[in-house]
Amino acid sequence: MCESVAVSQLVVRPSGPLSGEVPVGGAKNSALKLMAACVLAEGRYVLRNVPDIADVATMGQLLEAMGMSVRRREDGALEVVRPAVITPEAPYELVERMRASSAVLGPLLAAVGQARVAIPGGDDFGSRPIDMHLSGLESLGATFELTHGMIEGRADRLRGAEVVLDYPSVGATENLLMAGVLASGRTTVQNAAREPEIADLAAFLNRMGARVLGAGSPTITIDGVAELRAVEHTVIPDRIEAATFLAAVAVAGGELTLRGARADHLEILIERMGRMGVRISPEADGIWAMAPARPRATDVATLPYPGLATDHLPLLVAVLSVADGTSYATENVFAGRFRYVGELARMGARVRVDGHHLVIDGVERLSGAPVRAVDIRAGAALVVAALRADGETVVHDAEHVDRGYEGFIDKLRAVGADVERP
Ligand code: UD1
Repeated sequence: MCESVAVSQLVVRPSGPLSGEVPVGGAKNSALKLMAACVLAEGRYVLRNVPDIADVATMGQLLEAMGMSVRRREDGALEVVRPAVITPEAPYELVERMRASSAVLGPLLAAVGQARVAIPGGDDFGSRPIDMHLSGLESLGATFELTHGMIEGRADRLRGAEVVLDYPSVGATENLLMAGVLASGRTTVQNAAREPEIADLAAFLNRMGARVLGAGSPTITIDGVAELRAVEHTVIPDRIEAATFLAAVAVAGGELTLRGARADHLEILIERMGRMGVRISPEADGIWAMAPARPRATDVATLPYPGLATDHLPLLVAVLSVADGTSYATENVFAGRFRYVGELARMGARVRVDGHHLVIDGVERLSGAPVRAVDIRAGAALVVAALRADGETVVHDAEHVDRGYEGFIDKLRAVGADVERP
């Protein structure tokens, strides 16, 4: 799957107004962690609403490398079979391709008592350390050695402990959850991340027989159990894919219904887009949005959930680059996540970087140019911006977009965007 899109490009021409309905798929960042959690107990799992994207294929390969089997059933569900014995190792080739691979660390230590996981490197967000994952797991009794680019972890039986995170890290909270469920006694995670994907993981674990309370709040309590079982689960909708289409309609104009999206997972984004003049209403099974002729400038800043997601920022910057007026955008979660700004500037956006702030002077229209996708959301943001760029925009390295979005081009085309893969 990844090979076939290794050097892909996307061509985007001015589009809009958009109109129609977009089905929003399952959340990538939840599905990947649920797949990792399948390490915890032997048996056959059925995961519904798992997007068919390159990162899911990579996580599938990782599970297969450990001796598990993963297949997409005819009804679209993902079936994961975890045999009695697995090899607790995540090789470099897979971890390097996708940092979410480090999510197997906690479940391996809990279920197998050992783990060899390649040390994740830096990426286009800058460095993304996992020190909090390791120190949290150490509090539960795991020991680690870092040799030859691998993290080697051991734990005879994890024991519950109180862990206070310095920062509400999504990945660290998830690893602690997946470790705590099989530890002896009670684990408490203070200053836990509150993202909807954490609550989804906890729901999955509870269905497996775990005793997790408080997921979605800053304090999570986990009473360890001796055994878990394989189950079926439906992944929550992807709030970043939903935001991508909201940004698309804000840039191109028009009216869209996002089928399956959950407004309650997008509250701050909806509020900020409201200030930009986009009318958004929740519906029974989705979100309806109507854009003004031109968005208005407003200030945005990322924070851990329920704050504005760091994955939403590149999309909002694309909108603000064509807004009426000057906006300030601040990235508080990942330092160094501004590499896409230079690409937007190539399209005529007037954006100045000042530390972790951006000052964006909106222009009426952008101008199509060759640009490069530096990561998933950056790539999506460039496609969105190109909807209001005169001439043709060619997005290079578009395989990054395929890592995160199922059927992105088809979904955009279905609502009237002029996007194609040459
Ligand atoms: C996850 C999501 C990512 C999203 C992010 C924040 C996946 C695959 N990725 O990433 O899309 O943008 O949450 O919502 O689910 N940090 C440390 N030490 C650690 C862990 C994190 O310093 O041990 C720092 C990071 O460098 C960053 C911040 O904490 O500055 C947040 O990271 P974290 O919430 O852990 O994000 P990820 O789990 O990597």
